[in-house]
Amino acid sequence: MDYIKKKLLEKGVQERAVVKRLISEFGNVVVEDVNIDQILTGMKGMTSLLTVTSKLDPENGIRYRGYSISELQELLPKNSPEGEPLPEGLFYLMLLGELPTPQDVEFLSKEWYNRSHVPYHVIKVLEAMPTTAKPMTQFSTAIISMATDSIFQKAHRAGINKNDYWDTTYEDVMNLIARLPVIAAYIYRRSFKDGSFIEPDRDLDWAANFAHMMGYDDEEIYRLFRMYMNIHADHEGGNVSAHATHLVGSALSNPYYSYAAGMLGLAGPLHGYANQEVMFWIYDMIKVIGDDMDEKVIREKIETYVRKTISEGKVIPGYGHAVLRVTDPRFTAQQLFAEKYVKDDKIINIVNMLYDIVPPILKSLGKVKNPWPNVDAFSGALLQHYGIDEYFFYTVMFGVSRALGVLSQLVWDRMYNLPLERPSSETLEWFKEKAGI
Ligand SMILES: CC(C)(COP(=O)(O)OP(=O)(O)OC[C@H]1O[C@@H](n2cnc3c(N)ncnc32)[C@H](O)[C@@H]1OP(=O)(O)O)[C@@H](O)C(=O)NCCC(=O)NCCS
Repeated sequence: MDYIKKKLLEKGVQERAVVKRLISEFGNVVVEDVNIDQILTGMKGMTSLLTVTSKLDPENGIRYRGYSISELQELLPKNSPEGEPLPEGLFYLMLLGELPTPQDVEFLSKEWYNRSHVPYHVIKVLEAMPTTAKPMTQFSTAIISMATDSIFQKAHRAGINKNDYWDTTYEDVMNLIARLPVIAAYIYRRSFKDGSFIEPDRDLDWAANFAHMMGYDDEEIYRLFRMYMNIHADHEGGNVSAHATHLVGSALSNPYYSYAAGMLGLAGPLHGYANQEVMFWIYDMIKVIGDDMDEKVIREKIETYVRKTISEGKVIPGYGHAVLRVTDPRFTAQQLFAEKYVKDDKIINIVNMLYDIVPPILKSLGKVKNPWPNVDAFSGALLQHYGIDEYFFYTVMFGVSRALGVLSQLVWDRMYNLPLERPSSETLEWFKEKAGI
């Protein structure tokens, strides 16, 4: 058993006892009331999950095990003082609840490199699909096809004790995270480049290797990938990708199926697809407003375009959030990255202008709960600056990152022996009766 698993087990046994006690001794404690609108508007604000990896504060944004993105910028190990923290460290923090040392990060980099071999049949499955298949279609298919390798599934069939489910889940999770950049990079190369496969480099960390296998070898791009992988990694338990992974995992489906379910949710326009929508929307706007004018004129034209989008009954992609009520710190992290590295980029300039223009317009509608930008408002602009302008691929990148959070939580779901998720539902008659109408 490696030392990470030993630590997990130590903490896990104690915490599992707490969860058990909460259910058996304190199960009747009422924690909050539930309103009709919460049930009918997507269970927002209704506590219904146990998630240990991160917590989303509406006013301050995401906290991974209690630490904000800007705090982790200082606290997580980097490979150079001016660089970005390595996502290996964030995974360690989310999994174990403690800050990693540089040695812990190095251990994970090596471990993931050693586990990165993708079974040949997965490559064959991908090759059976047209290169025009949407990258998220290819990505989720590849993940499901890799379930043939599930150690958890074999162990479960062999009849292991449920207190040991976490162990084989951890093994699947580590293999899956190690292989995701290989699969994603291959999808990128077969969809948008010459289809050649670039081997991972044993001297690179997980995120840099992802960039390398996509065909981008430059320290600045490696930093972009480390930052991108860190900020998209987790957003507490109720978002669609995290919740779907947990829900399917609660049926004891193997980690490959569980994570694939999360990815199919991430592919939706109101979730991880929004980063593509932002770029399509900006380019459609440029076609209408032109791009060769002084700033005042551009601003006026952008404002008109924003109002027109809303009047057509559409949303402004990249703005609003189901929980957040401030500018997303993940937006700010990308803005700071752009300030540090990017000099004058047309699309980034437009994104910055939109940040001035959109919130007052959304506020004036009186119904938008959060008029501020979310993570998706900036990510595409940064990626296109570095030449990655294949927008359909952006959600795959988001998905690779999201694995860090949702899969470390899946290990804890199994450690706690969380049961099958099975809420009840009611008919419209029931709601009418409750409301007295
Ligand atoms: C993220 C999102 C799905 C949250 O949905 P939500 O929690 O239902 O948001 P709200 O409660 O603020 O919605 C209230 C109203 O404001 C509207 N609204 C919310 N965000 C809006 C936006 N960016 N542009 C225009 N209108 C918006 C909603 O469509 C809704 O209108 P309706 O009552 O006529 O149906 C929503 O803000 C959105 O669609 N944003 C754009 C897509 C996006 O960026 N997704 C990525 C999220 S990380």
